Amino acid sequence: MKKKVGFIGWRGMVGSVLLKRMLEEKDFSYIKSIFFSTSQIGEKNPKFSNFFFPGFLKDAYNIEELKKLDIIITCQGSLYTQKVFPILRSSGWSGYWIDAASDLRMHKDSLIVLDPINSVNIKKAINNGIKTFVGGNCTVSLMMLALGGLFRQNLIEWVTFSTYQAASGAGSEYIKELLKQINFLNQYLSQKSTFSQSILKIEKNITSIIKNSNFPKKNFLIPLILNLIPWIDSSMLNGQSKEEWKMEAETNKILSKTNKKRILIDGTCVRVGSLRCHSQSFVIKLKKDINLSEVEKILENDNQWVQVIPNNKESSLQKLTPLSVTGTLNIPIGRLRKLSLGSKYLSAFTIGDQLLWGAAEPLRRMLKFLI
Ligand code: HSE
Repeated sequence: MKKKVGFIGWRGMVGSVLLKRMLEEKDFSYIKSIFFSTSQIGEKNPKFSNFFFPGFLKDAYNIEELKKLDIIITCQGSLYTQKVFPILRSSGWSGYWIDAASDLRMHKDSLIVLDPINSVNIKKAINNGIKTFVGGNCTVSLMMLALGGLFRQNLIEWVTFSTYQAASGAGSEYIKELLKQINFLNQYLSQKSTFSQSILKIEKNITSIIKNSNFPKKNFLIPLILNLIPWIDSSMLNGQSKEEWKMEAETNKILSKTNKKRILIDGTCVRVGSLRCHSQSFVIKLKKDINLSEVEKILENDNQWVQVIPNNKESSLQKLTPLSVTGTLNIPIGRLRKLSLGSKYLSAFTIGDQLLWGAAEPLRRMLKFLI
């Protein structure tokens, strides 16, 4: 019998990408899909050009309806998880909960899923009766896919990172705000006389427009366009941002590393004005001196999505930018070279689509493990 799978938060950005991928992979033919809503209960189920789901949206807060499901997959966000998950579990429901939100990631009874890296742990967890599976933070998943070979062969002593994270990671309203910021600047830039002014005059005018109190910045709090924001998520007590803290915490949980064998990972997370691809720059201390071509082979052979980009300007410009990766499952890794610091110090730069491998794809693939 087909498993009854409930979809919550399917209308949002991550949920929509998830549904699109499921349609592309024909995943809906293996399951009985039931769609829920927190706000549009009773409206018609989703409809796509080549597929429609008969029936009407059910109430995402109705515990009795949720209890009928074998699997719940939610992209609704933290507040929903915090509100519904404990009540549903304490009602005796023992179905599988697959979540995009971060709340349950570090829970002792949950597993962070990224099957190209931890499929063995996923299978073990299913056999051991684990019922809660959570997608990792986007930067963590994208880093692990890129450096998968080095992690798998236990070659990393430590990693330090700088991230260049897209507006989409903050949410759809933030993307809109970035676009509104562009639009606001355009009122000056589109005037005929603007480009006949001296460049320093233009720069001065642009800076004063950006600093104007009417500049759209309700969500980001400061302008992102022609700027960057060196803080993502809340603050930890040790000076890290929560986004930075997640890198080491989640990576080691995904790899099931115990305290003594933990891989040290720390750095700085930065929001930039790209749309939906996160980029990351790494300095990696290897446990031993391996030559660069060996490193490239180890990286390239780890999974089918990672692709080593030759360390030259042309390839980097063509294949190692957010624009070259957006909307794809590709994980290019380039700028690979040994640093002048010593032969065990490797630098690397990688990009990934924050909504695909960074969010929806690990959940879609987890669902397939269960069905
Ligand atoms: N925390 C990420 C970001 C979102 O703010 O970019 C992806 O999980």
